Amino acid sequence: MKRTFFLFSSLRGSTGKTITSSVTVLLVMTLSFISCTAQRKVQAPGTKELVAAMDETFKYAGDQYKLLAKNLPPEKFPKTYFPATGKYEFSNSGWWCSGFYPGSLLLMYEQTKDKALYDDAIRILQVLEKEKLNTGTHDLGFMMFCSFGTANRLAPKPEYKEILLTSAKSLSTRFNPTVGCIKSWDAKPGEFLVIIDNMMNLELLFWATRVSGDSSFYRTAVTHANTTMQHHFRPDNSSYHVINYDAATGKVIDKRTAQGYANESAWARGQVWGLYGYTVMYRETRDKKYLDQANAIAKFLLNHPNLPADKIPYWDFNAPNIPTALKDASAASIMASALLELSTYADKTSAKTYVDAATTMLTSLSNSTYKAAPGKNGGFLIQHGVGHFPAKTEVDTPLTYGDYYFLEALKRLKELN
Ligand code: GLY
Repeated sequence: MKRTFFLFSSLRGSTGKTITSSVTVLLVMTLSFISCTAQRKVQAPGTKELVAAMDETFKYAGDQYKLLAKNLPPEKFPKTYFPATGKYEFSNSGWWCSGFYPGSLLLMYEQTKDKALYDDAIRILQVLEKEKLNTGTHDLGFMMFCSFGTANRLAPKPEYKEILLTSAKSLSTRFNPTVGCIKSWDAKPGEFLVIIDNMMNLELLFWATRVSGDSSFYRTAVTHANTTMQHHFRPDNSSYHVINYDAATGKVIDKRTAQGYANESAWARGQVWGLYGYTVMYRETRDKKYLDQANAIAKFLLNHPNLPADKIPYWDFNAPNIPTALKDASAASIMASALLELSTYADKTSAKTYVDAATTMLTSLSNSTYKAAPGKNGGFLIQHGVGHFPAKTEVDTPLTYGDYYFLEALKRLKELN
């Protein structure tokens, strides 16, 4: 209660004026935070086995990442690995996935308490830190919150707080109030591209309001989510990948794909970014419209006739060569993690459906088709991700985010049991 009072009394907008509606914002955020701690225990066929194997799985993950670390050039971040040739691809800190490697190491450290994993995470965080000033990307939520956000959750430090707040400010510079969105990709003058993936960057902004008392971050996140709800979704609750807005008027110019099969198809990872994003929106605001949106997306995904029995989606729900199309294991990791959180807000029947589905996904990902044998896959955990099919990059390879959300989903399952 003392903390709640402090937050209310210290709340200021970026102009320095007290914002009355902000009291409501902070009240909702505080209540959400408190009520998140009361969660029901979840079980489905396979849950017990996954939970019983958890220590072993995280030990395996740590050993794999130590192998990966041995092959990592200094200052570089893992991107993917090609088992057929034994070749790696690495990135610099500006690549959208740079936060997943330290984030995964920290999730492993949390479960194993293996200090070597923590030390490697801290080493690479120092390389990543400069991205807090990167205003040329919308991916700062992925990059900085999965990494520094996790580090700060495990061992809060003033420097992490500064890095995260600076990152939130950098991300906010891409917000256009006329469009009502944060810009995803820079494009031709006058065009303003927003991708569904961008929903994943909003969690950083909620965190920033909570710790700074500046409600402008919160309002940016809510406005972005509302605009996205209005324009990204089709009547069946699948989503477009890219919306091209007129930067001057906010009018929609066109709706299309970049990473999916076709403009009107349902690119699997885009669908699950939306599911995860609106689940976070409900957690942070307790506004029921976001819960309804997340439930509607879950319904679209779980009832889709092209969702295979092992619940690892094809890379696009409308890929032309189903059932021989490639699957995207990363989409399953993200979906499992999102469904487990959503199950804690949903009614009893939906919660059971979500936990059953997430457990099936995690069981599938844990079998030898997807989870690499020890010492294989270049040290990555999950095989058979599809990064960018149309560009023919990272196709049927491991992906850092496939690993990260697999670990997060396992942690969530453990915490719910
Ligand atoms: N643009 C992020 C992704 O490939 O999912």
